[in-house]
Amino acid sequence: MEFKTISADPIRRKTACLVVAVVDGRQQPTTTQHVDEASGGLISRLLSEGDASAKVGDTLLVVHPPGLAAERLLLVGCGKTADFGAAAYRKAIAAAVTRLAQTRAGDALLTLARDGVASLDAYTLGRQGAEAAAAASYRFDEHKAKSRAPKPALKRVTLAFETRADANQGARGTDDGRGVAAGVTFARDLANRPPNVCHPTHMAEQARKLANRHRNMSIEVLGETQMKKLGMGALLSVAAGSEQPPRLIVLKYRGAPAGEAPIVLVGKAITFDTGGISLKPPPGMDEMKFDMGGGAAVLGTMAALAELKPRLNVIAIVPACENMPSGKASRPGDIVETMSGHTVEILNTDAEGRLILCDALTYARRFKPEVVIDAATLTGACVIALGHQYTAVFSPNEALAHELLAAGERAGDPAWRLPVNAEYGESLKSNFADFANVGAREGGSSIAAAFLSRFTEGLTWAHLDIAGSAWKSGREKGATGRPVQLLSEFLLARQSRRK
Ligand code: BES
Ligand code: MN
Ligand code: ZN
Repeated sequence: MEFKTISADPIRRKTACLVVAVVDGRQQPTTTQHVDEASGGLISRLLSEGDASAKVGDTLLVVHPPGLAAERLLLVGCGKTADFGAAAYRKAIAAAVTRLAQTRAGDALLTLARDGVASLDAYTLGRQGAEAAAAASYRFDEHKAKSRAPKPALKRVTLAFETRADANQGARGTDDGRGVAAGVTFARDLANRPPNVCHPTHMAEQARKLANRHRNMSIEVLGETQMKKLGMGALLSVAAGSEQPPRLIVLKYRGAPAGEAPIVLVGKAITFDTGGISLKPPPGMDEMKFDMGGGAAVLGTMAALAELKPRLNVIAIVPACENMPSGKASRPGDIVETMSGHTVEILNTDAEGRLILCDALTYARRFKPEVVIDAATLTGACVIALGHQYTAVFSPNEALAHELLAAGERAGDPAWRLPVNAEYGESLKSNFADFANVGAREGGSSIAAAFLSRFTEGLTWAHLDIAGSAWKSGREKGATGRPVQLLSEFLLARQSRRK
C-alpha cells in the first residue's frame, strides 16, 4: 500500500472514495461540514434519519454522492470529539480501510487527520494512520485457492492535513509507518504460515532473503554441529525429538559505526510446540504453530529497521526448533548442560522456551550488548494474568522497563510490567542439577522470567512474554505481529535519544 499526504482542499480532489469523520455531538468537524454543504446536506440527512452512526468504527458508504468530485463517500464514526484519541483514530482508520477493501475503490482520501485528533501531532497521525491502514488491509491467503480470494483493489491512501507543514510532518509519519507496517507484515506472514511450511530452516531462509535484500544487513545461521561445539545442550535437547534440524539465526543490522555496542533482540522460535514427551492436550494445539511468534517479531523488527534505517547497531538472535515427542526426544528427568555451564533438570519438556532462550541469551554475550531484549510466547500463565491486551514486561532494570512500557504506549502496542526477582526463582530447585526448568504453578510467568534471569546476570536485560498478544484465537485467528510495533518504537526512540 502506498501513502501520500496533502494539504489541499479535499473536497475538490478526484478520488475513488472520500472518507470523512462523523462525531457524536452537535457540531461535526470542519471538513465534514464542508462536505455536507457541497453535497446539499447529505451527511446531515443521513445522520438525522439514523442511517449514519457516529459510534467509533461504524461506517456508511454512499456511492455517487452529489456535488463532490469523489466517486464514493465513506462516513466513519469517530465517537465523541473529547474522547477521540490515538486508539479511536486507529480504530476509525482500520474500519474505513476494512470497508474500502470490500469495494472496487483503488484509492482513498482520508480527512480524519485534518480535523485535529485530541493530542496527536501530524507525525503521529501519519505514522499511526499508515500502520492502522496497512494492518487492516492485511490478508494471509497463501494457501487459499486463488479464485476464492480476490485481492482488495485499494492501492493508495492519501491523508489530508490542514497545512503544508502538517502534511510534511505527516509524510514523515507515513514513511515511518510504512516501515513499521512492513515489519509487522513480515512477522504476521511468518507466524501465520503452517508449521509444515514454516520450520526452522524456512525461518532461516526468510531471514537470509531479508539480509540479501539490504546492504546494511548480514546474516549467519548456525546448525547442529556449531551448536554442539558451543555447548548449547539446552537448545539441542529441545530439538532432539524432531526430524527438523534446529537453527540459530543471527541477523545483523548496521546503522552506526562498528565500535558502537549493539542492541540485541532475542526471539523464541518454536515452529511447533507439541509439548514433547510432556504432550499437550489436543484442543487448540494447532495454535502452537504461533509459538515462533517471538522469533517472527524479532525478524519483523529487523525488516522494519531495513526501511527505517536508524543510526543504531541491532542484532537479532533467533533460536529456532520444533518441540516434538519421539524416541529421540528429551524425557522428564533428563539433565542437560547449558552453554553457560549451568546444568538444568528437565522436569517438563513443555517448558521448552526457556531452554532455547537460555542458550541464545548466553550466545548474546559475545556481542557485548548495550541492551538485550527477548520476546517469547513463554507461558500460558501470562495469558491468564493479562489476557490478550497486554504484553508482559519483566526486567530487573527500572529504566529499561519504563522505556519499553512507554514505547508500547506510544506505538499502540501496550505492555504491562510484571515482577521478576530471585525469590521467584526459589521454586526452580532441583535435587539433581543446578536447577529445574519448571517451578511452582502459581506465578508461572515470573518464575519463567526468573529462570531466564539466571542467564542474564550483568546484562541490561528485559523479557517480553507475548503469549497473549502474539496472536488472536477464534473467528479472527491469526498472528498480530506484536511486539514489532513496540520494539520498532523503542529503537526509533533510542536513536533520537542519542542525537
Ligand atoms: N508455548 C507455551 C506457552 C503458551 C501456552 C503460550 C499457551 C500461549 C498459549 C510454552 O512452551 C509452554 O508450554 N509453557 C508451559 C510451561 C509450564 C510447563 C511450566 C505452560 O505455560 O503451560
Ligand atoms: Mn511448551
Ligand atoms: Zn512453547
